[in-house]
Amino acid sequence: MKRTTLLAALAALPLCGCAQDATTNNTDTATMGTTNKTLVVYYSRTGENYAVGNIAEGNTAIVAKMIAAKTGADLFEIKTVKQYAASYDVCIEEAKKELREDARPAIVGDVADFDQYGTVYVGYPIWWGVPPMCVFTFFEKHDWAGKTVKPFATHEGSGLGGSVRAIKKALPAATVTDGLAIQGQTAQNDRPAAQAAVDQWLGK
Ligand SMILES: Cc1cc2nc3c(=O)[nH]c(=O)nc-3n(C[C@H](O)[C@H](O)[C@H](O)COP(=O)(O)O)c2cc1C
Repeated sequence: MKRTTLLAALAALPLCGCAQDATTNNTDTATMGTTNKTLVVYYSRTGENYAVGNIAEGNTAIVAKMIAAKTGADLFEIKTVKQYAASYDVCIEEAKKELREDARPAIVGDVADFDQYGTVYVGYPIWWGVPPMCVFTFFEKHDWAGKTVKPFATHEGSGLGGSVRAIKKALPAATVTDGLAIQGQTAQNDRPAAQAAVDQWLGK
């Protein structure tokens, strides 16, 4: 699919603390058994992408790290067992197929002791108006009852699209707040602007 075609399709869619790695260092004995900790979980893709070229760090990853640094939250990256193509045009088709099939692609590893988190920031790129299906794989691995979920997304024109609605549907037992949307190229190429948007959202 040509990039211009994608954007046309998108337009039509209805749609200071220190972060720690949640996989390795989250056994805080003082808070074990409680649910007062904060987690930032995100999916983000490297490789060729719209408007930013070939990137070594994904746009959403940049925002996720800003949020974790500012809130002192633990950080967990969702990684798929089978990586999506580095080619943008191929990845577009892979993502469309997964969405059509309502797929649940396998993911690598998991957050240790998910129960200790009361607030979970969930970050993702907008893919065809919603989060990538691997985010739903992560959702279905956990009990979200009583948790507060704060969605954030990077995109190239759709804003949050239908993502918050999709998250609310997937996590009926959680309280899902208003989300933050940042353009991917802003996160990648204008960090001060992205940081300002994060700070404003976190300050609400
Ligand atoms: C498979 C795919 C589908 C996309 N679909 C949309 C979309 O529906 N709306 C939109 O605004 N941007 C869309 N984009 C652009 C991404 O949302 C944007 O580049 C995002 O910042 C990528 O984040 P990442 O680097 O963390 O993966 C899409 C990109 C890809 C690769």
